[in-house]
Amino acid sequence: MTEFLDLFPTKLVHRHLDNFEEPTRDLIKLVREMEKANKSLTTDYRENNPLEYDRAGPNWLRGEINHTVIEYLQSIGIDYAVNWQIHAWANINRWGDYHDPHNHPHAYLSGTYYLKMPNAIQKPTRQRSDVRPGCITFYDPRTGFNMSSIRNDPYVDPEFTVLPEPGLLMMWPGSLMHFVHPNLADETRISLSFNIVLKWSDDYIPRQ
Ligand SMILES: [Fe+2]
Repeated sequence: MTEFLDLFPTKLVHRHLDNFEEPTRDLIKLVREMEKANKSLTTDYRENNPLEYDRAGPNWLRGEINHTVIEYLQSIGIDYAVNWQIHAWANINRWGDYHDPHNHPHAYLSGTYYLKMPNAIQKPTRQRSDVRPGCITFYDPRTGFNMSSIRNDPYVDPEFTVLPEPGLLMMWPGSLMHFVHPNLADETRISLSFNIVLKWSDDYIPRQ
């Protein structure tokens, strides 16, 4: 018997949330209120969790994130109770703002929910053709795996890029490197990122 095994997978969730418009408007309002209160939203991210507010937008998004975590855990075969906290923070990216390649230490999962994207993604006219303003790129964690790839094998592209839309929720292992491309529009790009931090239990220790 011959088996072809798929080893060392990387699971990403890409989910368009239903009926996102109204709760998302409330979240945008909240994020703007927080910014007006002089909070440094992204760099002081542990102080300013927008999901700690008890109001329509945060209550809705908390539920959607929790639901997605449960589905993610089921999809990778975790069939016992897991408890977590959501540590969230907001990002308002103005012209030129970006976030260089990074991962999220101590997070089991990380994710982003997209609240608002610039309407017109303006590509600068005399720029390189691979400029992808406002996108997010994820990198193959197996560094160098594309080195000897040949046409049609699954390892040709060492990156995966998404142009988000409002209402999109993405989630991935916290260790996965990702890059938020510069916003090259005059309009803001607003998102809410989060870490899923596990409340420890000895049940999590692998039985090998
Ligand atoms: Fe990130």
